[in-house]
Amino acid sequence: MKVIITGASGVLGRATTRYFHSQGDTVIPLSFTRSGPANTSSASSSSSSLPAYQKLDLLDFAATRDFFHSQNNNDEHVDVIVHCAAERRPDVAEQDPVRAERLNKDVVEVIAGLAEEMGYLMIYVSTDYVFDGKSPPYKPADAPNPLNLYGKLKEAGEQAVLASRKSSKHAGQAGKRCIVLRVPLLYGEVEFNSETAVNIFVDVIEDQSGKTYKSTYREFPFFSTITCITSAYTCAVACCSFSGPLCCTIPYMRGRRRASNVRSRPCVSLFSHSPSAPATAHDPPPSPTDHSKALPPIVHFSSQKGLTKYEMTRLIASFLQQPIEQVIPDTTDPAMLPNQTVQRPGNTQLSVRELEDKVGISAKEQKGFEAWWREWAERYRAEKA
Ligand SMILES: NC(=O)c1ccc[n+]([C@@H]2O[C@H](COP(=O)([O-])OP(=O)(O)OC[C@H]3O[C@@H](n4cnc5c(N)ncnc54)[C@H](OP(=O)(O)O)[C@@H]3O)[C@@H](O)[C@H]2O)c1
Repeated sequence: MKVIITGASGVLGRATTRYFHSQGDTVIPLSFTRSGPANTSSASSSSSSLPAYQKLDLLDFAATRDFFHSQNNNDEHVDVIVHCAAERRPDVAEQDPVRAERLNKDVVEVIAGLAEEMGYLMIYVSTDYVFDGKSPPYKPADAPNPLNLYGKLKEAGEQAVLASRKSSKHAGQAGKRCIVLRVPLLYGEVEFNSETAVNIFVDVIEDQSGKTYKSTYREFPFFSTITCITSAYTCAVACCSFSGPLCCTIPYMRGRRRASNVRSRPCVSLFSHSPSAPATAHDPPPSPTDHSKALPPIVHFSSQKGLTKYEMTRLIASFLQQPIEQVIPDTTDPAMLPNQTVQRPGNTQLSVRELEDKVGISAKEQKGFEAWWREWAERYRAEKA
């Protein structure tokens, strides 16, 4: 398949680029300010052949349209775009709402419009922050009620995608070309720790200067400050799994020349199947048509393990074999914290039941939070030794 990934220099885009590339797809990784190969310092060993970022300012709509059109040529058409580029920092969005609206809403409209025009599949990555965090777990059909501008703009992006899907001349066909993929707080391979709101705990743990930090912590049954974190890698695999079967069944794409591996992709083999869809390694890939028919317009993908920020910090610190006396568990409900510039939802757990029951994909991670961080810390300590 030919896959364009926007925001490929970001945390999720980077993992997605690496994963599609590892599956033999032709990947076009787009960046804005960063340059070089789609790489990370800590995962460089297997990524030497990754393509270099192509710089494109998505806020330049004319250049964006030209770029996408230029990618469709007689030899190969674009099959999938995974749209990761966004302003994902709620406080930064609040500081520059005009830019945030253009990037998180207007750009989505442009790319969804191009999806209709050019016939590729768009996976729009959205967030659990479209919910207010008051009544988890959230099902895909639950009404969003974002508390901050970031959440509102991501919801507006969702609306653009869903409107495009609804008004599409291809409506009613299996494999409609736009889906919304909501994911929760991510962690993963980073270029610097503050790239994610989880990896940043490494900086906190390593700060032994005497400075103290407060970290949200409420014990059972006070779930209000718990976050379900998911690895960027697992979300990348999800994007790849969704795109294979959907592309296979886009009827209007038949007859076009596409990369030869579209039909042979093992769509969901990297996930364990839910009990309703048992499968073994020897089973053939599930029927693409059945699979895509079941894929709803909004998909939730999230681990179901909830941790408080303090618990995350404590776990990472234990793997790094570092004390965390400087981190003070704070039992205040985040919604009640004084001087908050941006309101954040408490528990936005995303229900994956629909994904498991209707689509037959389990969101259970092969490597959960603890295993991922244990491995990461081992590598990190070995590098430092
Ligand atoms: N991170 C999370 O915890 C989280 C949680 C839920 C949902 N999400 C969603 O997941 C998606 C990916 O998030 P992420 O954490 O990977 O984001 P990220 O690490 O902050 O990366 C943002 C990406 O957007 C690109 N970008 C920014 N302005 C651009 C512009 N004008 N033109 C083109 N590209 C531009 C950046 O390119 P340069 O760096 O090259 O400038 C970068 O690649 C987002 O849609 C976000 O809303 C993230």
